[in-house]
Amino acid sequence: MRDLRQIHRVERAKWDEQAQREINSLGVLHDPDFQSYAAHATTMRGIAEFLGDLRGKRVLEMGCGLGHIAVLLARSGAKVTAFDISPISVLAASRRACINGVEEGLDLVVAAGEELPFADESFDVVLGKGVLHHLDVSVAAGELYRVLKPGGKAAFAEPMGMNPLLKFVRNYIPYPEKNPRGADRPLNYREIRAWGSRFARFRIEEYQLLSMVERGLGFNRPLPLLRKADDFLLRRVPLLRRYCRYVSLFMEKA
Ligand SMILES: C[S@@+](CC[C@H](N)C(=O)[O-])C[C@H]1O[C@@H](n2cnc3c(N)ncnc32)[C@H](O)[C@@H]1O
Repeated sequence: MRDLRQIHRVERAKWDEQAQREINSLGVLHDPDFQSYAAHATTMRGIAEFLGDLRGKRVLEMGCGLGHIAVLLARSGAKVTAFDISPISVLAASRRACINGVEEGLDLVVAAGEELPFADESFDVVLGKGVLHHLDVSVAAGELYRVLKPGGKAAFAEPMGMNPLLKFVRNYIPYPEKNPRGADRPLNYREIRAWGSRFARFRIEEYQLLSMVERGLGFNRPLPLLRKADDFLLRRVPLLRRYCRYVSLFMEKA
């Protein structure tokens, strides 16, 4: 049994330090809204399409970090609440909201994903990027389900941890914009199933097999030919899906 309080201390310290380094260099974001960001982001496969029109929706972003996505969600017309366990990240996110002129539409909270300070069934949409694999699924999956309204949707983009080569690279090889390792554990299928088990509808899409070099080699932009090759391979040889770098999770509550 992992000690949750100790894990939270490690994560808070790590992300506070990272946020402190970036807090003074935040500027105006170029993307006009969440949908246009998701269209070119390397790790948001299918999410904007699944969530649809966000105007007027109550949206919760989990593990918002420095607020990049939260600001874009507000620009898309959502009423956004975003939280993170790192107080300095939340401070940076609120600065970013002010710089981008969306502070009115954005409620920022310091909280842990395992203990959400929100009422039952408060949100139409819950989403997160790179956050579930930091959380204790045995507690946090129930919290996610609890705060989502009936008929609500949740979507996440998460790293997967079943490719031994990728595991080695993550653990030992430096690459551009690599996040420092804390208590996080890229997801395996057992954890992925645990995140989705409560929902009436749940599906996943694995991606980035060959195209994982988009990030690894520092391109950080879509490489269309490699993406096409991935689509072909992953359709033809489903066994390869477990070796992908990323997975999108799509949930719907009855
Ligand atoms: C990989 S970063 C992703 C940040 C942001 N979503 C992004 O894509 O830029 C993971 C984030 O999860 C937050 N985090 C880690 N453990 C958490 C927990 N138990 N509850 C809430 N947030 C947590 C970290 O502080 C960090 O900001």
